[in-house]
Amino acid sequence: MENTLETGIIDNIAEIRQEIKKFRDKNAIIGFVPTMGALHVGHESLIAKARQDCDIVIVSIFVNPTQFGPKEDFDKYPRQPEEDRKICTKQGVNLIFAPSPEEMYPQGMCYNDFTAIVPPKFYQDKLCGKSRIGHFNGVATVVLKLFNIINPDKAYFGQKDAQQLVIIKKMVQDLNIPVQIVPCPIVREPDGLACSSRNKYLSEESRKKAVSIYKALKKMKELYISGVDSVFRAIEESESLLHRDLEIEYFEVYDFETLMPVDKIKQNSLVAIAVKIDGVRLIDNLTI
Ligand code: PAF
Repeated sequence: MENTLETGIIDNIAEIRQEIKKFRDKNAIIGFVPTMGALHVGHESLIAKARQDCDIVIVSIFVNPTQFGPKEDFDKYPRQPEEDRKICTKQGVNLIFAPSPEEMYPQGMCYNDFTAIVPPKFYQDKLCGKSRIGHFNGVATVVLKLFNIINPDKAYFGQKDAQQLVIIKKMVQDLNIPVQIVPCPIVREPDGLACSSRNKYLSEESRKKAVSIYKALKKMKELYISGVDSVFRAIEESESLLHRDLEIEYFEVYDFETLMPVDKIKQNSLVAIAVKIDGVRLIDNLTI
């Protein structure tokens, strides 16, 4: 039966802590899905997994300013609070935490004024971190703040943001944060395009071109299965499947656990890609 009781929204830290204390007093297992809103079926799959594993599910909706560069899409990032609330209600989310930037960063958003987390350079200086300077400092900082506010038992992250996932796992391990990180598989549209809030920016024409991303990723796996393990050769062949209008930012292979670059594809290699399609930046990946 569909859930009809509307999911509550809390926008301040003191109040969400009080509510969470009530759940904790009942020994509830708390699952947490951090998001920037504009929820889609990918987020719904994280929530569904959290529902399966936990007694209580909290979703945060916060477009985090500190993870956007000055020329990035912070201002135009899709915001749809009412639609998001409906999705959370349908998915049986217990509470939404949707703070303002001032609630999260009362000292202001300047890195001189608050304590930030800086993931190791080795994990940042590749893939998205290469072009999005400082992005993962913002991600790690806000995720740690959210963990400290929500204090979840388990937190759910999509594998589409593979570098983010590896960095969060490393932070949790290095800083002894008592939370279990649960990676969740990429959810795709029927034509193979990975679900993303930024897909909303694509025109119909660009959307058609975007389908070639998954075709190229799948080709990498097919080549590996057919015996090609040279990264150079596999990338060269797969790249030819990408629509010619795509600007490739990276199309590379790494070890998924360590983010070490590899030149021979093997089990657990991460094939990751970032492209711009008519000005829209999309990322995707596939594990071998
Ligand atoms: O993946 C995202 O949506 C964001 O990077 C996250 C983890 C919610 C932090 O702002």
